[in-house]
Order: sequence, then structure tokens, then C-alpha cells
Amino acid sequence: LKLDTILSLPVLSVSAVVAQAPVISVEPQTATVRQGETVNFRCQVVRGTPPPTVIEWKKTNSPQMPDNVRVEGVVMTISNARPGNQGQYRCTARSAGGRSSATAVLNVKFAPKVRLTPAGPLRVKMGDPVSVECRATGKPRPTLTWKRQGSTLQLVTRQTNDWPAVHPDNSGVYICQAGNSEGMTEVKVEILVGGRVGAPVASVSATEMTVVEGHTVKMVCQASGSPPPVITWSKLRAPLPWKHTAVDGVLTLSDVGRQDSGQYICNATNVHGYSEAYTQMEVESPPYATCLPDKVSLRAGDALQLQCLAHGSHPIQFEWSRVGRASLPAAAEATKDGKLLMAHVRLNDSGTYKCVATNHIGSSEVLAKVTVKGEPGLLFFTFYVEVINCI
Ligand SMILES: *[C@@H]1O[C@H](CO)[C@@H](O)[C@H](O)[C@H]1NC(C)=O
Ligand SMILES: *[C@@H]1O[C@H](CO)[C@@H](O)[C@H](O)[C@H]1NC(C)=O
Repeated sequence: LKLDTILSLPVLSVSAVVAQAPVISVEPQTATVRQGETVNFRCQVVRGTPPPTVIEWKKTNSPQMPDNVRVEGVVMTISNARPGNQGQYRCTARSAGGRSSATAVLNVKFAPKVRLTPAGPLRVKMGDPVSVECRATGKPRPTLTWKRQGSTLQLVTRQTNDWPAVHPDNSGVYICQAGNSEGMTEVKVEILVGGRVGAPVASVSATEMTVVEGHTVKMVCQASGSPPPVITWSKLRAPLPWKHTAVDGVLTLSDVGRQDSGQYICNATNVHGYSEAYTQMEVESPPYATCLPDKVSLRAGDALQLQCLAHGSHPIQFEWSRVGRASLPAAAEATKDGKLLMAHVRLNDSGTYKCVATNHIGSSEVLAKVTVKGEPGLLFFTFYVEVINCI
């Protein structure tokens, strides 16, 4: 109340006690602690007439206080904090003047807790689907990764790891790891894929390979199983290259070309079943350059266009130069895609031009011969003289 307002209230008696609802605040309003730590909250009475007689702490949405919470006077102490203590706490003060309340929030950081569904070990039939879900709680929110024991490869970043159709190869121990700033927790699940006893399991020496055109390539496939499986090689959606041999699971391809790139499949078969393993091969080749046209005859003033083309592994860079000269004519323009352009050739632009095509394997060059003949006027004059001579 401002002073003039008070004075203007006619019934205000100096002796009267005006009861006022208490005004309170909570210190701190938010606290974040690690699991196991202790935290205090203080409920402060800012003002109130008469002073509040009852001060009470309650946990919001909870019928009773957790057993590790102690209230002494205006101070609430939470000792050995645990995840269940997270939430909102409300302090309420009451007096003859009324009541008021204020809230505080407690966050408890904790290392992740992980649960797998189903927990395993899982016994599954070959070809059946399997899906394992990893759920983690923690504060801050944990990140999840799936790994296979004995491998550093991260499997998937999703919460659920799915195998649409399991194979004996998928047998093993899988690990779901959950981590946050408070720690790292992992849970393992064992998956046993029951192929029939003795069923083949095939594996290849390399799942990916890059080779240079013209080289000889060996792909090795090994297979366990009883009786010993028969190993055959094939190529996805294409026949095997004709220059190949397959002996004891080793596929040899000689003088490979770009068309031999693709997926090669090793198939190990015995009476109990079969197993496939894959190798992806890319054949890279140096460029082979050609020029279109490679010989051109123009008149002075005509436009020149030469296109350098190249087969080979991409990316390919093109570079034009002029044989026997330090640089291209000033009016010439060489484009990124291999063109050499001149809007108006001159007599002295005649000569041999060279295109070099380069990729990361090698380079190839091609020459183009440009002949520029005299101005049209000069040709006409020559023709005229000849006509006169004939007469
Ligand atoms: C592997 O062999 C099995 C049994 O002979 C056959 O069913 C399967 O199609 C073969 N796979 C390939 C890729 O040839
Ligand atoms: C080519 O000839 C033109 C005139 O037709 C001249 O201006 C130019 O300097 C010549 N260029 C060279 C490289 O000699």
C-alpha cells in the first residue's frame, strides 16, 4: 500500500491488526544431484502477518514422502538421493491470514539401467526372424548402441535389433550398450541359431574388393559342415566371367574388365542345407581418351568445337593444350567436360591440339589436327584468277 492510499482509507484504525497471507519462497528452486548425493531445500517466509504457524513439505503426486526425506523446521533434506526422488516438492505455509505455497524441482542424474526383451539366451531355428529390444533409463537420456561380441562394428543405432531371417552365422553374443555422462551400462544376449547339426556355414576372405583392370583376382571361400560341403561360385544376375577357374572354393578371375564388377556368391551345400557368402568387387580402369572430331578443316572466322571423350573410372579430368606451344590461343575455352571451343578461328590457330584425360589410376592422351584455310575473300580471288586463265 502506498502511503496516500492508507491515509485515504477512512476506517483504518491504527490499533487494528491486518492479517496477511504469508509470502514464501523456496531455495533452491531447482537442484540437480547425482545418485547418492544429499540435497537441502529451504522454505523461506518472506513476509506474513501473523507469521505462519505451520510449514509443510509434500512431494507432488505422491501420497507420502520417500523414506530418505527428512523435514526439520523449514529445511527439507534428501539424503542418498535415488532416481525415485526426482520430481516436484511443494512447501505450504499457513497462518491466520491464509496460506500459500511454492515448489522446488529435484533432478537426480544416474547411470543407465538397461533391459532387453526377450532377455535370452534365445534359441531360434535357422530362417526364423529374431528381434531383440533394448530399453534404457537414465539421466541424462542415454544413447544406445548394439554390438556383436568380438567385433568393433556397430550394428544398428536403433533400439531394436532385427534379423529378418537368422542364419547359423548370426549365432553369438550381442551387446546393447547405453551410455550417458554418469556411466556406461551394457547387457548381453546370446542368440543360438540351430541349423541342423552339420549344416554348412560359408565365409569369404573379403566382403569387398577394388581391383585395377587387367589384374588377376582371387576370392577365397571357406565352409564348415559335415559332410564337407560342396562349394560353388556364381555372380549375381550374370554369368561368371569366361576367364575364370574355381578350385577348392578359390575363384580366380584373370584379366578383369570393368564389366566384371559386381557381387560374387559362394554357395556351400551339403545334405543338411546350404549357406551363402558374398564378395562385392569393383574393377577400376585408367581412362581411354578419344576426340570428336580428331581432324577438322575450317575457314578463318569459323567456330571450332572439339570434344574429348574418355572411358574409365570416374571422376575423369580433361586438359587441353597445343602441341609445340606454351599455351592455348587466348580466344580458346576449355570446358570441364572436355570441350575445346573457339568462336572465330584465325589462320595462325592451325596446328595440333592435345587432350589429356586423367583419373586416379592413370591418364590417356589424344591428338586433334586443326587446319584453318584462308579468308573466304581470298579463296574467291584465287578462283577468279583461274577462270581468267581458262578463257
Ligand atoms: C545355393 O544352393 C542352394 C541349394 O543347392 C540353392 O537353393 C540356392 O539357390 C543357391 N544359391 C545361389 C545364390 O545360387
Ligand atoms: C594470330 O593472327 C592474328 C591476326 O590474324 C594476330 O592478331 C595474333 O597476334 C596472331 N597470334 C599469334 C599467336 O601469332
